Amino acid sequence: MDYQFDAAAKDELNKTLVWSSEYSVGVTELDHDHMMVFNAINQFKNGIRLKYEIDFVEQLFTMLLEHADAHFRAEEQHMAKIGYAGLEPHKAEHQAMKRELDNLYAKFQAGGAAAVGDLLAFLNSWWLRHITEDDAKYKT
Ligand SMILES: [Fe+2]
Ligand SMILES: [Fe+2]
Repeated sequence: MDYQFDAAAKDELNKTLVWSSEYSVGVTELDHDHMMVFNAINQFKNGIRLKYEIDFVEQLFTMLLEHADAHFRAEEQHMAKIGYAGLEPHKAEHQAMKRELDNLYAKFQAGGAAAVGDLLAFLNSWWLRHITEDDAKYKT
């Protein structure tokens, strides 16, 4: 597959997400989930950077979505268990992120250099922003 990258996409491709203790939400299982999604994003980007077959890149993306989905469910259960007051807006944020990922992935599948850049920029920033700004609020 001949992926088309523009300069912005190349910048995003060269970023590697590395989990660090400053991202901890104070729950080991949920920290592990966050690390798994970091890895899944990095692997998806590797697939694009190394120009793997599109079928394989799609599998990597599906894995990324599955890790994110499983994590959202586990995290929502945790927030319910501790009686976190911000559960409903947090659930809505998870839904919004899934919708945005679906949109960007559809554009990526339709082709075009800009679509790759948009998808990668979102992947690089959404997860970190969500962990440090939204998830950090339920940390006790
Ligand atoms: Fe979350
Ligand atoms: Fe999370």
